[in-house]
Amino acid sequence: MKLRSIELSLPGAAEAAAFLTDIWGMAPAAVEGATHYLRGSGSYPYLVALEESADCYVRSTTFVCTGNRLEQLKASVSAAGLVAAPVVSEDPGGGHGIIVELAEGELLRFLVDADEVAPIEGHDLPVKLTHVVFNSADAEMTGHLVEDALGFRVSDRTKGMVFVRCNDSHHSTAFARAGISSLNHIAFEMEDLDAVMRGIGRLRDSDLVPAWGPGRHGPGANVFAYFIAPFGPVIEFSTAVNKVSDDYQAGEPDDWTWPAGRIDQWGISTKDFDGLRAAEEKFRHRRDWEAQPLDVLTEGNI
Ligand SMILES: [Fe+2]
Repeated sequence: MKLRSIELSLPGAAEAAAFLTDIWGMAPAAVEGATHYLRGSGSYPYLVALEESADCYVRSTTFVCTGNRLEQLKASVSAAGLVAAPVVSEDPGGGHGIIVELAEGELLRFLVDADEVAPIEGHDLPVKLTHVVFNSADAEMTGHLVEDALGFRVSDRTKGMVFVRCNDSHHSTAFARAGISSLNHIAFEMEDLDAVMRGIGRLRDSDLVPAWGPGRHGPGANVFAYFIAPFGPVIEFSTAVNKVSDDYQAGEPDDWTWPAGRIDQWGISTKDFDGLRAAEEKFRHRRDWEAQPLDVLTEGNI
């Protein structure tokens, strides 16, 4: 199971795409109708889809998995009683699978048979998405839900977040204890620490400074630099998140505390709490499809 892409709708999709290519450092992948697709250096056909719309919202966050894993998901999602539907992707790469709505409206799409593309060169390109984080009214509940209904695993709990993995990367998603349900941020995996720092410099050339960072997180130990994108959401340069084993012991909030005055391992970062919070409230979840039964394989129809 791997995180692949996020699909957003927003006003000014072309301007947002121009920011992500000209300043943030992505490469254009395709424009289809009113949707701009942007890619990184890795093998996914795109990482971010930006669909022109009157409103800002998240259409889906897409994972790719094997056929066996998809069959498990269909069974566990149906057993959990979640709103879901079969889906055929019309985005670059195609593929088919299911889309699922979690309890607070988060929309996760799981695809199989999605095509990949040849990697491209460019040491300032993001490689891929490393995590997409959501705000939750009840992050603890959602952490349990994704374990039960999706087979994900909680890696760590802190005072602010429930970190969740779907492979050996410490987290591919997380749910922030935020009191609201929305997109918290999108994190791009950079080639290395230098690529993160060059990214900060590139944004500085356009008079944009980090809203938090640079720094190194506690859980996952990844390097980070968060920005409030001109088109609204919080986006992050990141690198070097920890790999964890199946028997990783999930930490609890008391295991993850900082000395007074510190909010990262290096002790150098400052954080624009108010600015970040305002940006996190902009992209909510919006489901534009109806629930349909999933074609769950049982002994009777295998
Ligand atoms: Fe992050």
